[in-house]
Amino acid sequence: MRVLVTGISGQVGGALMSVTAPAGITLIGAGRDKLDLSRPGSIAEAVSAMAPDIVVNPAAYTAVDQAETERDLAIVVNRDGPAALAEICGTLGIGLIHLSTDYVFDGSGARPYLPNDPIAPLGVYGASKEAGEAAIRDRLEDHLILRTAWVYAVDGKNFVNTMLRVGAQRDELKVVADQHGTPTAAEDIAAAILAILSARSAGSGVSGTHHYTASGATTWHGLAEAVFARAEPVWGRRPAVQAIPSSEYPTPAARPAYSVLDNSSLDNAVAVPRRDWRAAAEATVDLILQRT
Ligand SMILES: NC(=O)c1ccc[n+]([C@@H]2O[C@H](COP(=O)([O-])OP(=O)(O)OC[C@H]3O[C@@H](n4cnc5c(N)ncnc54)[C@H](OP(=O)(O)O)[C@@H]3O)[C@@H](O)[C@H]2O)c1
Repeated sequence: MRVLVTGISGQVGGALMSVTAPAGITLIGAGRDKLDLSRPGSIAEAVSAMAPDIVVNPAAYTAVDQAETERDLAIVVNRDGPAALAEICGTLGIGLIHLSTDYVFDGSGARPYLPNDPIAPLGVYGASKEAGEAAIRDRLEDHLILRTAWVYAVDGKNFVNTMLRVGAQRDELKVVADQHGTPTAAEDIAAAILAILSARSAGSGVSGTHHYTASGATTWHGLAEAVFARAEPVWGRRPAVQAIPSSEYPTPAARPAYSVLDNSSLDNAVAVPRRDWRAAAEATVDLILQRT
């Protein structure tokens, strides 16, 4: 099975390309130079040239705040690019695994979101991802939309790296404590996608819209505390983390107050590996600190 992977310089795409694929699965990476989602008209030819049996698309416009002022680009990359991908996948008779986000929800819920719960994004990024989901559903039956959340990796612009950078320099930080979600390691998402691909090649596929995150939930404040608790023995000190409401840390894009995702529909369809959010975050902190 030849698997075309987009966004290989990103957290999830990079994690996918760094794992050893199981026998029978060949991963073919395509960066922006080979497959540019901002040029939807070029996508059919680019995909056809690589002759994949399935496409995995973690590439996206992911700058949540910047999207508020770069709406057109966010929409092209997150809606029109995936739409073109879905179209060529349909023409070639192959499947598409597409990554989406917890930010399609408005966060007014009080229990983990199910894939079919009503979506109502609060910002342009979430709206562009929602539009991408809809474009794929409209064009391609053989699709799997995997919504994930709060992604981090050893490399990449993410909250864990930011906390370790800022916490190394400051004794006190303020972090929002009224947004609830599930931090998820890019390598775990990659492992889940590989499990899904293996199941598919064995004839037991999963399709439609599903959720994949780590287990459990916390807040950004809780994640910061977990990061610093893990760093403390290495640093010999621990920054104090003051819990603040989102209103004290205004951002261009509003975030959902609660975006914990219910993973059960995916778990019922295929066995995917999953770690507790804290254990996975601690392992990543260890790797980052070993490197510095
Ligand atoms: N990060 C999160 O917290 C989070 C949360 C929920 C869901 N997700 C979703 O999960 C997926 C993976 O996220 P991630 O954290 O791995 O993202 P990321 O680290 O920001 O990487 C994004 C990737 O997309 C590529 N890309 C951007 N514009 C492109 C274009 N026009 N054409 C082709 N490639 C382009 C980037 O390439 P360049 O290096 O060339 O820019 C990069 O490889 C995305 O679909 C995202 O929406 C992410």
